Amino acid sequence: MKKVEKTITGNVDPDVLDFTVGDDPVLDRALVKWDCAGTAAHVMQLAKIGVVTQAESRKVRKALGEVVAEFRAGAFRIFESDQDVHMAVERRLTEKLGDLGKKIHTGRSRNDQVAVDVRLHVKDELLGLENELADLADELCAFGRRHDRVPMVGRTHLQPAMPSSVGVWATGHAEMILDQVENLEAAYRLNDLCPLGSAAGYGVPLPLDRKLTSDLLGFARPLHNVFGASMARGENEAAVLSALAQLMAALSRLAEDVILFSMPEFGYFKLPRAYCTGSSIMPQKYNPDVLELVRAKTATVLGLQTAALSQLHAMPGGYNRDLQDSKGLYMKGLAIARTTLRILAKIVAGMDVDEAKLRAGFIPGVFATDAALRQVAAGVPWREAYHDVRDHLERLETEDADAAVAAKRHLGATAGLDWKLYARRVASVRKEAAKRQKFFEAKIKELI
Ligand code: ARG
Repeated sequence: MKKVEKTITGNVDPDVLDFTVGDDPVLDRALVKWDCAGTAAHVMQLAKIGVVTQAESRKVRKALGEVVAEFRAGAFRIFESDQDVHMAVERRLTEKLGDLGKKIHTGRSRNDQVAVDVRLHVKDELLGLENELADLADELCAFGRRHDRVPMVGRTHLQPAMPSSVGVWATGHAEMILDQVENLEAAYRLNDLCPLGSAAGYGVPLPLDRKLTSDLLGFARPLHNVFGASMARGENEAAVLSALAQLMAALSRLAEDVILFSMPEFGYFKLPRAYCTGSSIMPQKYNPDVLELVRAKTATVLGLQTAALSQLHAMPGGYNRDLQDSKGLYMKGLAIARTTLRILAKIVAGMDVDEAKLRAGFIPGVFATDAALRQVAAGVPWREAYHDVRDHLERLETEDADAAVAAKRHLGATAGLDWKLYARRVASVRKEAAKRQKFFEAKIKELI
């Protein structure tokens, strides 16, 4: 080894440093605020157990607030020699506070520190994402409401099946998307546990008050077992990515439907021209590139989920550096899901329908089941009525699509949509997220 690079944790070969640091100096920029908040809570605890004085704790918290401000102003940077945000913040605190800066890592490891940072970051992102999800669902419901009883052929196997409506199509997708909140909430609850105090994964011989730091940071409770807390890193990121993968799959189906139904051969839906992109050779083109990219990005998130789970399956218990690589995965997944929700809300808000094209899809076969049911009403057993219609398909005629849409009055059907239910569900997602956001933001603000 010719040359070595100096770091807080020792001198290493520059290539080794480069390889192990990886993307951390860039990715960890998203964690600066959270690392400072976690450090503030840790220092308040150190003051409680007498490792630093209350006055020192206040000094450190003030300096942490300054670090966040310096970062926002572009004056605080994470260098490769820092390795990551944790060492960068410690370096900066030591530059500002001298020996006091060197005390703050007492009773803490980067392992529990990064786990806290990631959880705070995930919390913030998931709450933002839930709002964006509610916005998209809201736009879908508004679109459905605008064109509620406009007849639309319902399809199975993509073949014309039964009379349906634009209202049912739109709110069906809205409901699938709103249901994703259940998965996201499960991930949120798992994430809402505080690993701080587990240190390297085995605790420390100091009277740490883990309940205090958990409360200060706004977590539901501490993760109990210190070893378990170290293993929950990676598991947590995988849980988030699993929820995101399911969400993206739902969004991709919506995108695929819109691509299909807006192609000229169907022409049911019209996309605003500003939301389509052109071709460099074919002057007539207005392509649904956004929706195609939603499909591709869904594939990417499925891959991210697989990568996160694959990292776990062969990793021994306790901290392993493999875990560092879970950071880029969940961050990328969240960024993709959030931009996808936002762009889809825009597309849906700008989308229009072509009623004539929608009505033209009502070929006689679409009314076959209704015709059989009319026989049933006249006393014919279902299976006989079914065979009679199937054996004489040529007798079927195009019927009144509006009447067919109005005839299905039961719960959730074309004439039985509960618009208040959707309004309530959208409002409840927003309200729940806002409540927690407010609580969380207040906690973080108090700390730094
Ligand atoms: N940047 C590291 C990560 O994300 C921090 C933890 C390093 N811990 C260690 N034992 N090397 O995992």
